Order: sequence, then structure tokens, then C-alpha cells
Amino acid sequence: MKVAYISELKNHIGEEVEIRGWLYNKRSSGKIRFLIIRDGSGYLQAVMIKSELPEEVFNLYDELYYESSLAVIGTVREEKRAPGGVELTVKDIKVYQITEDYPIPKVREDNIPDVGVLLPKRHLWLRSRKQWALMRIRHTVEKAIHDFYDKNGFIRIDAPILTPAAVEGTTTLFETDYFGEKAYLTQSGQLYMEAACMAHGKVYCFGPTFRAEKSKTRRHLMEFWMVEPEVAYYELDDVMELAENFVSYIVERVLEERQEELKILERDTSKLENIKPPFPRITYDEAVKILHENGMEFEWGDDFGGDEETVISKSFDKPVMVHRYPAKVKAFYMKRDPENPELALCVDMLAPEGYGEIIGGGQREDDYETLLKRIEEHNLPKDAYEWYLDLRKYGSVPHSGFGLGVERTIAWLSGVRHVRETIPFPRLLEKIYP
Ligand code: 4AD
Ligand code: MG
Repeated sequence: MKVAYISELKNHIGEEVEIRGWLYNKRSSGKIRFLIIRDGSGYLQAVMIKSELPEEVFNLYDELYYESSLAVIGTVREEKRAPGGVELTVKDIKVYQITEDYPIPKVREDNIPDVGVLLPKRHLWLRSRKQWALMRIRHTVEKAIHDFYDKNGFIRIDAPILTPAAVEGTTTLFETDYFGEKAYLTQSGQLYMEAACMAHGKVYCFGPTFRAEKSKTRRHLMEFWMVEPEVAYYELDDVMELAENFVSYIVERVLEERQEELKILERDTSKLENIKPPFPRITYDEAVKILHENGMEFEWGDDFGGDEETVISKSFDKPVMVHRYPAKVKAFYMKRDPENPELALCVDMLAPEGYGEIIGGGQREDDYETLLKRIEEHNLPKDAYEWYLDLRKYGSVPHSGFGLGVERTIAWLSGVRHVRETIPFPRLLEKIYP
């Protein structure tokens, strides 16, 4: 018996195959019964015809409940109206396990019950259709990230996860004990990429990062994945160009490869079709002006929160790059603007449709004395940054990079409100189960 996956059945029309999967749904109309089977690669309607089946096989229909595991043997038929273009006429069924009461039955129809019910059942919720679609989009986003950098001559360098020092401020560190010394889960691989780009020119890292953010918003996770390119001799404008080409490439790949999934998510893809470079670039000052024009109270010098980002991004139908924030709201490593040292040579990219900041980055301070001064100003332990300061002693050059948050990017592309659905097992404020 030929074992096949649902996604490849188009190539097996007229043949008898075995599909191994789970029961997603079922319905009955008199002498015909339908099993909707999922096998991970797709969904298939299997048709049971009473007159063509042994009675005990036909009667299995009544016993099979959602998520029962089974193999279905049958003949593949072309059926234009079916999703995937094929159906299966059942000849036999092998039952692996009959499930009696699936804990989240309503998820079958994506008539989503309360998230408070679903989140502790994440290990099962992953099987539902929308979650299935989201993980497949995530796969494509991750693949596109690696392809983009590979095609553009970047070397992937893995950054450590256990680190001796902070990158993005000391208030969001997860602390751990490292043989009697304090260590922290990484907030960003950036500092290590700065070292690596002096060895390879163009590098990037891709991995999990951790922030003990005391915020319970739809954009924050405690553990999230970030891709961080870093390029020697790049200045702020160069890195903005890299960012817009990169994001456009990811969008293009998702549109190319994940139409079915975007449809399941009811994503209006017309809004993604025009995401092509160049993206609008505005200064922080101009962004503040947009806030004031929209009647928001906002004081120059403050950082933007989610609400401000939403208002700014709504003025554009592409991601917008906001550059030159006040240095005091940004991290210690940012290079100052020579034209106005109050400002940092940094850039945030805000996604359209209110999805907020997906990229943060900019040009790095490359002067030894200045960087040392910043480390002191930020009350950071100089010893832990000795190696980082070395990079400014031995062949220092201008260099720039950024970090793109994978989950926020997927949330935007998929049109789901909350980042918690874009990662297989979200780590949320005070929630670490399952
Ligand atoms: O702006 P951030 O903090 O920048 C950095 O970490 C830099 N060191 C990156 C670099 O230049 N190499 O974070 C970068 C991106 C944000 O724009 C956002 O997309 C995402 O990471 N991000 C989060 N995503 C989910 N949950 C959180 N708590 C996040 N914090 C940041
Ligand atoms: Mg940021």
C-alpha cells in the first residue's frame, strides 16, 4: 500500500493510497458520510459510501471523535470543488486511537473559545487550523530570512544565549547563576555580531532572545526570536536600505508560498502586495509632528509607546522608518548624530496597520573614548564590556545593524492581533505552561 501525504495527492489521482492522520471533523448525509482528515500536510475529505463498505467500517463513523488517530485507505479522485482539488473514496480504515472527549472541540471550526482556555492547551491548540496556518507562515518567514542573507553574502554567526552583561538595559534581564557568578539570558546577539562583522564583513545571527518585560501587551513576549544583521563599514542610510530590502523579501516569499494559509487566516493580502522598497523615512521630529497633528499629547524627548506607534504607522501604507530618536531614550551603544549630538543615529521600522515596531537598530558608537564614557554614564560594569571596547581599539570602523522581531513580523503578515499566536509555545508574563 502506498502511504501518501495529503499535500501530494494531486499526483496520485486514480490510485489507491493510505493516509495517516487524525480526524479533524465529520458530517453525515444519509447513506454518505464524510470524514475530514488532517495529516499535517493538509486537509482531505474522505467519503464513506454505505453500499461500498463492510458494515463494521461504515459504522466506525459513529465511534470516531475529533482528533482520533487513524489511517484511511482509499482511491484518490479529482474533485475540483474540494480544497486541494482531490477527495478520497474510503475502502478501509485502521484506527490507532479513538479519542473520547477532545478538550477544545470548538477550535475545530475556529470558533475560538476564550484564550484563557486555549493557552494552557497550547500543545493541542497547535492542531487547529489557524494555528496550523500560522506555524507554516512562520516556517516560511524563517526560511526567507536565511535565504535573504545567504543570497546577499552574509555569514551566519550564532550568538551565545548565556551572557555576562546587558545589551538593552538592565531592567529586563533574566538572571541566572553561572558557577557562582551572575549571568543573564541574552537580550540580543548584537554585541557579538559587532565582533563577528570585523572578521567577516557581513554577518547575522538568528536565535531566541529574552526580556523580563513587565508588560502585558499584544506585542510583548518574554522569549522571542530575533534576526540581527551587522555590517562593517555600513552607516545609518546603508542599514535602512538593507532593512527595507529585507522586509520586502520576506513579504514577497510569504505571498508566493503561503496563499492557502493566508486565506485560512482571512488576511487581506492586497495590503501586502505593495510592500516594496523604498519605504518612507521620517525623522523622530517629523513623527512627533504627526502625533500632534492627530491630536495626541506627546512631549518631545519621550519614547513612543504602542499607541504612538499605531498613530504614526497609520499615516503610511508601507512600513515607515523613523530615524534619529533622542539619544536618551536609546541604548548606550548608539552613535550620536554629528549634526545634533542630542540625537542617536538609530532607526525603528514600524509595521503598517498598527502592528508597531518590528525593527530596531542603527549605527554603533565606534570611538573608544566616547563608548567608554557611555558605559560609565549608563552605570554598566566596565569589566564585562572590556572585550567590546577592544573592538574600538583594533581597527575600529563605522558599522551598523539591526534586529527584526520574528513574532511581530509574523503577526503583521498574518493579520493576527497578538504575538502569542505566532510562536509555538509563548512565554508570557508570569505564564510558563505548557
Ligand atoms: O529594538 P530592540 O530592543 O533592539 C535590539 O535588541 C538591538 N540590539 C537589535 C540590533 O540592533 N541588533 O529589539 C529589536 C526587535 C524589536 O523591533 C521588536 O520587533 C522585537 O525585537 N522585540 C520584541 N518582540 C516580542 N516581544 C518583546 N518583548 C520584544 N522586544 C523586542
Ligand atoms: Mg526597539
